[in-house]
Amino acid sequence: MLQGKKLLITGVLTPQSIAFACARVAQEQGAEVILTGFGRGLSITQRTAKRLPDPPEVLDMDVNDPDQVAAVEEALRERWGVLDGLLHAIAFAPEDALGGNFLDTPWESVATALRTSAYSFKALVVGLLPLLEERGGSAVTLDFDASVAWPGYDWMGVSKAALESVTRYLARDLGPRGIRVNCVSAGPLRTMAAKSIPGFDVFTDAWHRRAPLGWDVTDPTPVAGAVAFLLSEHARFITGEILHVDGGYHAMGADLTE
Ligand SMILES: NC(=O)c1ccc[n+]([C@@H]2O[C@H](COP(=O)([O-])OP(=O)(O)OC[C@H]3O[C@@H](n4cnc5c(N)ncnc54)[C@H](O)[C@@H]3O)[C@@H](O)[C@H]2O)c1
Repeated sequence: MLQGKKLLITGVLTPQSIAFACARVAQEQGAEVILTGFGRGLSITQRTAKRLPDPPEVLDMDVNDPDQVAAVEEALRERWGVLDGLLHAIAFAPEDALGGNFLDTPWESVATALRTSAYSFKALVVGLLPLLEERGGSAVTLDFDASVAWPGYDWMGVSKAALESVTRYLARDLGPRGIRVNCVSAGPLRTMAAKSIPGFDVFTDAWHRRAPLGWDVTDPTPVAGAVAFLLSEHARFITGEILHVDGGYHAMGADLTE
């Protein structure tokens, strides 16, 4: 599905990272992959990268640092001279922006959450635009359904609503330049990021009761399959879309009866 594609995958930290499964499936589907790691997590990303079928190069990138985004563009230009797709799998919110403190979270923490988790998608795509434009590219980001409010998710929920909107505006502005931009809205998965969400088990239980297909919080492979699809030519007329990979949870109005 991705034969000959050159892809940048951000957000691989541990083998549990959703982006790790995405990188694995992309390689299995024939893509060449380069990863980015961030800050103190960089060495962990380097170690995790070795567990991929074809251990890829890892570039250092804090998505909030325009110089580092420019350095990634430069490195990809040298290696490939083109970029067919990217996965944005980046989110962060300070502790006081999560866990039921919604009414008292200071703007500084909200700003950090919004910048790292929503604005950064725009920053990354625009930073890599000259390479993405070469032969028409696809950008995908990872979302958690922001059409409703969730317990404890607080300003990360607001950031995901912004991310969904950023996706639509990028799709609007970049479609005429041959670039597609989409979200995969995933069900809950046990990752490092999930550990920082207080009361994550509430989600696990809710999915257990409501998702008609069932849902395994330890298996990001179904999400990775959808990401691979959106990065592929099979999705060539899909943009501005939110594709739910959540076992059908989002489509149900109430818990299932036995
Ligand atoms: N785990 C879930 O239940 C779930 C569900 C839906 C969507 N998501 C989203 O999937 C994405 C990946 O998260 P994950 O759950 O795989 O967890 P994860 O902890 O494995 O990945 C989060 C990544 O964000 C990176 N990151 C944070 N700040 C950064 C910065 N300034 N610059 C560059 N990278 C930075 C981290 O290095 C890490 O690799 C996130 O956007 C998350 O919100 C997660």
